[in-house]
Amino acid sequence: MDKKYQDKLFAKKAPLHVHISITSDCNLKCIHCYGSYGIIKKEIPFNILKKILAYYKKTNILYVNISGGEPTKYSKFINLIKYLDHIELPYYLTSNGLFSLKKYNLIKKSKMLLAFKISLDGTNPQSHLYIRDPIKKNKKIYNNTLKTLNQLKKDEIYTIVGTLIHSKNYKEILEFPKFLNKLNVKKWIIGPLLSKGRGKNNNKNINSNEIIKLFKDKKFIKKLNKECIINNIELDLSDFKTLDKKDYYFKCGAGIHYYHISTNLIAYPCPLLPYTRFAKNYSYKIKNNLNNINKIWNSIQFKNWRIQQIKGCPDCKL
Ligand SMILES: C[S@@+](CC[C@H](N)C(=O)[O-])C[C@H]1O[C@@H](n2cnc3c(N)ncnc32)[C@H](O)[C@@H]1O
Repeated sequence: MDKKYQDKLFAKKAPLHVHISITSDCNLKCIHCYGSYGIIKKEIPFNILKKILAYYKKTNILYVNISGGEPTKYSKFINLIKYLDHIELPYYLTSNGLFSLKKYNLIKKSKMLLAFKISLDGTNPQSHLYIRDPIKKNKKIYNNTLKTLNQLKKDEIYTIVGTLIHSKNYKEILEFPKFLNKLNVKKWIIGPLLSKGRGKNNNKNINSNEIIKLFKDKKFIKKLNKECIINNIELDLSDFKTLDKKDYYFKCGAGIHYYHISTNLIAYPCPLLPYTRFAKNYSYKIKNNLNNINKIWNSIQFKNWRIQQIKGCPDCKL
């Protein structure tokens, strides 16, 4: 077997980190959202979440990535942060940066916070709001996200920015590294639209062939890398590598070094799987098995997923 395929099959013996969608509630209704979040409020009950996190603490898991929906909208968010500190479980927060000062002050003091991952889709209100508040285009939304980024800078919290490349921001991509450097952002993860949920319904408005062309252009990629080096930003382009047909399909660590838990307590290798027609094939209900990572990790569903990763799902570029 080809060495690189062989390596892909060598999943870690146990996951290194877990991505948890604690709530489907959100303060935005982004037009690209793969989970169509912000409509129905469904969350993992706090007593169950606590059991899951306490169990992780006893395993070799390095950290959990707390996401959603918008995780800061979780009804027991303050208790959750206190609990993570109490059990000393390191965590990331993946957020749109729109939350109260009270919550910010609590997070800032949290000793187990490893990093903040903030979504920022433009260096100006127009391109950010195009997908995040398309109708009202409320500038406050952009300004408040920037306010959070500035606070994180001031408090020297390790900050990652995630950006969706869309039809209204792809022309400003080379301006991002300098902009992010000023905000003391350390890492920038950029990716294409995944055509799921509202992202599928609004595909035509968000996607463009120009984006695909741009990311196939080696000169452009070289320029982008150079800008990031000059501005001291680690660039993560891994989602775009899939656009190069010569490469094999999956570059991500889904089911290889991490897995995802949905708000309805189902484990999937990848956070996007629930929104695909493959959801049932590669999922594991954890409701009655909260305390058994090995059962999930070594389940037939996860094993089949790893085999599938070599081929790639027919309608998912990732
Ligand atoms: C689902 S959100 C949840 C966390 C938080 N509410 C936020 O906005 O960052 C996590 C990330 O997924 C990205 N995302 C959502 N739908 C997507 C899609 N269809 N394609 C690519 N990225 C998507 C968002 O832009 C965001 O950076």
